[in-house]
Formats: sequence, C-alpha cells, structure tokens
Amino acid sequence: MPTAVRNIVVLTGAGISAESGLDTFRGPGGLWEGHRVEDICTPEALARNRPLVLDFYDQRRAALGGVKPNAAHEALARLDREWAGDLLIVTQNVDDLHERAGAKRLLHMHGELMSALCEGCGGRASFGGAMLDGPDCAVCGESGGVRPDIVFFGEMPYEMDRIEAALAEADLFVSIGTSGAVYPAAGYVQMARHFGAETLELNLEPSAGSYNFDESRMGPASVLVPAWVDEVLGA
Ligand code: APR
Ligand code: ZN
Repeated sequence: MPTAVRNIVVLTGAGISAESGLDTFRGPGGLWEGHRVEDICTPEALARNRPLVLDFYDQRRAALGGVKPNAAHEALARLDREWAGDLLIVTQNVDDLHERAGAKRLLHMHGELMSALCEGCGGRASFGGAMLDGPDCAVCGESGGVRPDIVFFGEMPYEMDRIEAALAEADLFVSIGTSGAVYPAAGYVQMARHFGAETLELNLEPSAGSYNFDESRMGPASVLVPAWVDEVLGA
C-alpha cells in the first residue's frame, strides 16, 4: 500500500454482484450467453424489437427485489463513510446494490436499471416498474418514449469527464470484479498508471487487463474487498 494515498478511484464490474446472485455477462451462464448483444443492448435492437429489449431489462429490474448487497458492497460503503480523502466508486453495473449498501460517492457509467430515460425530452427519472406497460415520462409527461436508462453498446457512457478528472488525481486505482473486456472502463487502469497511481486488481480470476496492474489478488470479492478496505483504513 503506498504511504501517501489520499485519492482513490474504485472501478467495479459484474463480479462484485455475483455473490449477491446477479449474473455476470461473460462467465458460464452469463447474461450474454442466452442473447446476442446486438439483439439486446444496442439502439438498433431497441428500434428493431422494442418489446424484447424492454422485457430483458424489466426482468433484470424485477430480479433486484430478490437480491441484496454482499460483504463487498458493504465494505465499499464503509470505505465511503470513513475515508477522509477523495473517493469515487465508478461502477459499470446497473444494479442498485452499491446504493443499497450505503455508498454515496458513486457513479453509474453504464446507467441504472432503476432509472428511466425519455427519448423525447432526454429526462432521466427513477423508475421501478415494467416498461412493457408503456409508462409516461415522469419529466415531460409524454408517453411511448420511455426506455431503459442503460448505456447501450455504441452509446456514450455517462460522466466520462468526471471519471477522467478523478483518475488524473488518483493515488490508487482499484478494479473489482471486471473482465476488462469493455472500453472505456478497460482502459482506466492505464490512464491511472499514466497519472502515477498505484493499481490493484481484485478479481476471481485473471482478467484481460491483469498485466496492467501493479498487484492482482485473485479470489471472491466478498473476501478480498473487506480485507482490502481494512488494510486501507488501517483497521
Ligand atoms: N468475485 C470477484 N470477481 C468475480 C466474481 C466474484 N465472486 N465472480 C465473477 N467475477 C469476475 C469474473 O472473473 C470476470 O472477470 O467478474 C468479472 C465479470 O466480467 P463480465 O461478466 O465481463 O462483467 P463486466 O466486466 O462487468 O462487463 C463489463 O460489459 O456487457 C457489458 O455493460 C456491460 O458493464 C458491462 C461490461
Ligand atoms: Zn420526457
């Protein structure tokens, strides 16, 4: 652990939610196994087969009611409460488990299942129902234009400037539960290194970007993340 760590950026992926019972994307039985990404998670798919896309996300939104944060989410929420320096938790995940664990300094770069985006006014509003029911936009009132507030392949992730500004100031970059398969998130470790940060990977198995990290620890997030947070907080 570097001595002068003040500013931390944490990147999380589907692996941090796996032990809560949510499927990852690329593992055995992963979400993309039953579907082709281009049929589900692209603007063209939404235009071509809206009910299929809305239903895919309606099902994932409904599944959130049956799961809860695990020890890894809880540990990051503790870090958020107790860490005096800067902290930004950048999640690729669209589940709400970080929030439900209590994390505040959090950013969803790929959107959120519990949010709706209006294709009419561009407004985003929290949403917990089923989009197949054709809800009106909570911002402009229009009907028929509400879609999942999910960043589809080919669309721009949210708040990239804010993420890059945090990486430029980071002393420590920690990647948790991600395969390093999707950019721009997969490139954040190189960006952090470029700005002089130490880099640590906590993952079940080596990822596509493991060679970029100063240190990689392999194991389940529910074990590695609480241990790392204890280390950082000097517990
Ligand atoms: N603890 C830690 N890591 C785990 C665990 C666990 N219990 N279970 C799985 N993992 C790891 C896997 O080894 C894998 O490296 O989590 C990673 C999950 O990788 P993906 O399924 O590719 O998920 P992710 O990296 O988040 O995908 C990135 O791709 O499809 C898009 O938008 C989607 O945000 C997603 C992005
Ligand atoms: Zn609207």
